[in-house]
Amino acid sequence: MTTVGFIGSGQIGSTVARLAIEAGHQVVLSNSRGRETLADTVAELGPRTSAASSGEAAAAGDIVVVTVPVKAFPDLPAASLAGKTVIDTCNYGPERDGNIPELDSKSLTSSELLLRYLPDAMVVKAFNNIFYKHLLSLARPARATDRSYLPIAGDSAPAKAAVTAFVESIGFSVVDAGPLADSWRQSTGTPVWGTPYGPYSDEKGRPTDEDTIRAALATATH
Ligand SMILES: NC(=O)c1ccc[n+]([C@@H]2O[C@H](COP(=O)([O-])OP(=O)(O)OC[C@H]3O[C@@H](n4cnc5c(N)ncnc54)[C@H](OP(=O)(O)O)[C@@H]3O)[C@@H](O)[C@H]2O)c1
Repeated sequence: MTTVGFIGSGQIGSTVARLAIEAGHQVVLSNSRGRETLADTVAELGPRTSAASSGEAAAAGDIVVVTVPVKAFPDLPAASLAGKTVIDTCNYGPERDGNIPELDSKSLTSSELLLRYLPDAMVVKAFNNIFYKHLLSLARPARATDRSYLPIAGDSAPAKAAVTAFVESIGFSVVDAGPLADSWRQSTGTPVWGTPYGPYSDEKGRPTDEDTIRAALATATH
């Protein structure tokens, strides 16, 4: 069993948390408005769930999922995340995040920007390319023939191994998409982003195999 901390408990955060609970993990949720605003979610997810401040959720997690708007990166509890394996689900959108020059010019990926704020964390990008409803509906048991694949990117082999084990435990398989510098291949609007798993209008989604994810990553252009 792993304790998974969450900084951000919105659509994607609470979905990963739900799958983690179903897989037998412990979760510690946090958001920007305070733990009391997460009472309903904690009650719904059950006894292995708690709510805390972002710093406490970071400190508690064997793995910590950062799942906030990119504009919130400067607020993250960097000291509590030092030495941690951090899953970055985040996508940059200027309409929500404001314009960030290094991201607009594509000189930096949003995960590399996150690493600037968390220099002592081991960041792995994952879950950013799938609609939260498809994440929920496409989770499958370990030996199911219709398991879906998710790309992960990161610079630390041990952190990637930990994230792979976690992703596998909650119902998906992974494709190693390289280092954080290559994570633009799975960023907003790329072939692997959203589309392979089916249209948003179909909440059931479409199981997506390894070859499809590898081919989508390979056809991305900068
Ligand atoms: N929705 C999807 O299907 C999806 C899929 C893949 C990736 N993503 C990406 O994943 C990230 C989260 O998306 P989402 O759709 O889950 O967003 P969301 O539903 O709007 O939730 C955002 C969460 O971040 C929290 N938050 C905001 N600022 C914070 C701060 N300074 N400190 C701590 N927590 C903070 C919010 O807390 P409060 O509510 O208390 O402010 C909320 O819990 C985004 O970067 C998004 O682009 C989304």
